Amino acid sequence: MEQDQVLILDFGSQYTQLIARRVRELNIYCEIHPFNHPPKELENFKAVILSGSPNSVRGTTVLHPDLSEIRGKKPLLAVCYGAQYLAHFSGGKVAPSNTREYGRANLSFIKSDEIFFQKISEGSQVWMSHSDTIKDLPTNGVLLASTKDVENAAYKIDGEDTFAIQFHPEVYHSKDGKQLLANFLVTIAKVAQTWTPDSFVESTVAAIKEKVGNDKVVLGLSGGVDSTVAAVLLHKAIGKNLYCIFVNNGLLRKNEFESVLTQYEGMGLNVKGVDASQRFLDKLAGISDPEGKRKAIGSTFIDVFDDEAHHIQDVKWLAQGTIYPDVIESVSVNGGPSATIKSHHNVGGLPDYMKLQIVEPLRMIFKDEVRRVGASMGIDPELLGRHPFPGPGLGIRILGDITAEKVRILQEVDAIFINGLKEDGLYDKVWQAGAMLLPVNSVGVMGDERTYEKVVALRAVESTDGMTADWVDLPYKFLQKTSNKIINQVKGVNRVVYDISSKPPATIEWE
Ligand code: XMP
Repeated sequence: MEQDQVLILDFGSQYTQLIARRVRELNIYCEIHPFNHPPKELENFKAVILSGSPNSVRGTTVLHPDLSEIRGKKPLLAVCYGAQYLAHFSGGKVAPSNTREYGRANLSFIKSDEIFFQKISEGSQVWMSHSDTIKDLPTNGVLLASTKDVENAAYKIDGEDTFAIQFHPEVYHSKDGKQLLANFLVTIAKVAQTWTPDSFVESTVAAIKEKVGNDKVVLGLSGGVDSTVAAVLLHKAIGKNLYCIFVNNGLLRKNEFESVLTQYEGMGLNVKGVDASQRFLDKLAGISDPEGKRKAIGSTFIDVFDDEAHHIQDVKWLAQGTIYPDVIESVSVNGGPSATIKSHHNVGGLPDYMKLQIVEPLRMIFKDEVRRVGASMGIDPELLGRHPFPGPGLGIRILGDITAEKVRILQEVDAIFINGLKEDGLYDKVWQAGAMLLPVNSVGVMGDERTYEKVVALRAVESTDGMTADWVDLPYKFLQKTSNKIINQVKGVNRVVYDISSKPPATIEWE
């Protein structure tokens, strides 16, 4: 790759991915590597950032990388634990802090003319989160800034492009954090800001062409953002040699299979739609345990996909829409130097006998970058802005066993809810929304008649990555209108409730 690159050495901080995202926002390409598994080709990286860590330099679990190939040889920015690490092992002193060092603080410059602080004003708010503090700077350390409670809040090493900060520039509460990263990376380290969606598309298309050549590639489309963007990228590179398979598991949203298939065809993709609804329903018959349903759906998907892939002669590659957070090797917080590597298979793991090589064009980019790349390739913004939808689809939103009639009811309810959100301009304010069909009947009255019908729960959440979520305070008027529509229009439902639980302790899905 011809891009300038930045290396982030991870010591297990919860904020490491945020550092990478801020750097990418500066149109600079960066990679996260565990501190104990640095990349072999260090010469490819123009600058290095050391992350924070939940560990202490004084603790028994010593995260102690050899920086001899980095320090003094490349511009280095050490954040939080990184700053303490530099101090502790280079003649300084780190000790437990006496005062609270968590939350907002304000910078007082000791060296205000430092290029490191250009375009940042005295008093700038920063975010602190640490329990140790740097008592003495390392050898040749020069103090650059303090806060009220933290004397050694920022320092540099004389004669080196080595900078260290106790606060977290990657967190939004550090108001000038991105400017500080720009000062270090662009002004001091002279890293070129050439990482853009267009440059990504160009280099990825070239890389796919080289990797795959004239081979055939098969890809499972889900209707979601990641698989769609991956498909369009591959299509740009290899055209008709990309064989897309879009499976209807019968658990998609109302009319989704037909409309998304038409959209894919309109994009020029070589796509085959396979309606396997009945096969999935048959496999699911009588299963009410959530994990049992997930397994049945996953294994049926593999069977269907496998059958279809066998119809393609000489296919050599399987493409997946894996994205960077699924790939990053995470440093084990509790363990010693071992790095745990997450394995991730978007299609649930294909049988070994398929012997396909894997191509993952999005494996180095974050979700927001996937959307930007999709937009730069002209993919419909509505498709790119689609809420996340679970692989097992409505199968895990129908509590208990699944029947064709229950799917029909939930598809109708879901369509009224989602279309209503769109009509009232609420869809883009919500991270994910959907309806659950509960396994209970309740008594109601319609006209003069007593009814005994299904209850549905509506759920809408705000989130950034699905790991935590808050329920959305949808307007009462909207809920009232939606409830009326559902009860009047969907046969078999006589009661609607709204889920006001956050994650944790609840989850987004009910199963
Ligand atoms: P939970 O319910 O765990 O959901 O709070 C977090 C996010 O993950 C999605 N989800 C799934 N996605 N297969 C998927 O592909 C699944 O089995 C699955 N379960 C939950 C959920 O929709 C939410 O976005």
